[in-house]
Amino acid sequence: MTGNSHSWASVGEIAAEVIACERCALFRTRTLAVPGDGSPSAAVLFIGEGPGQNEDEQGLPFIGRAGKLLDKLLAEVPLRRSDVFITNVVKCRPPGNRDPEPDEVAACMPYLKAQIELIDPRVIVTLGRHSMLRFYPEGKISNDHGRIIPIGSRVLLPLYHPAAILRNPRLNEPMLADIKRIPEAVRESLLLRRPTTPTHVRQDAETHNDTQPLANDVEQRPLF
Ligand code: URA
Ligand code: SF4
Repeated sequence: MTGNSHSWASVGEIAAEVIACERCALFRTRTLAVPGDGSPSAAVLFIGEGPGQNEDEQGLPFIGRAGKLLDKLLAEVPLRRSDVFITNVVKCRPPGNRDPEPDEVAACMPYLKAQIELIDPRVIVTLGRHSMLRFYPEGKISNDHGRIIPIGSRVLLPLYHPAAILRNPRLNEPMLADIKRIPEAVRESLLLRRPTTPTHVRQDAETHNDTQPLANDVEQRPLF
């Protein structure tokens, strides 16, 4: 058993397969595939939409203008790139930065799923509307940016895409406030019971006076 539904035993093994991948048409137009970068045991996983031109040329995520802004925002938390893992919904650049097609997203999804399983982050930070919709299909970025949303044993924190901030500087302030919620999102995720917790431990926790209000609070919050 490798811990995911595929044969990959590590984030590095996923990357090796992504680099040579020909599962969808995007392989024909890419320069380099961009598997993702950062700590393979990060508590926080950032997911963008797809590589742009700079990323396609260098094989690394978020290294262009939007990436530089992301670095600045991370520094405000404060976090470094090496503290987190950064990847994208599709690992190869859609030509001309068009939106990826549904069949391209579907072909690439096993890599993202396996990255989530192996990295096992507490918090998934989606960058932009498209990435948010993979996890929260009924979401609206204008309403839901900066919300801490439990999904299973993790929490989702949808953020605006850094490129949107560059286009519209009025979003700068809300974006900064949103990204600064990451520590709170990690704390909230720790209140969620993980599905692997043995039943007897859960029962003990439920009968323990100190933990009961917290557990109830989390349970009563809607999943989405
Ligand atoms: N935009 C994205 O969504 N991803 C990148 O890697 C770079 C820019
Ligand atoms: Fe493979 Fe994903 Fe690249 Fe398509 S986008 S070729 S599925 S790595």
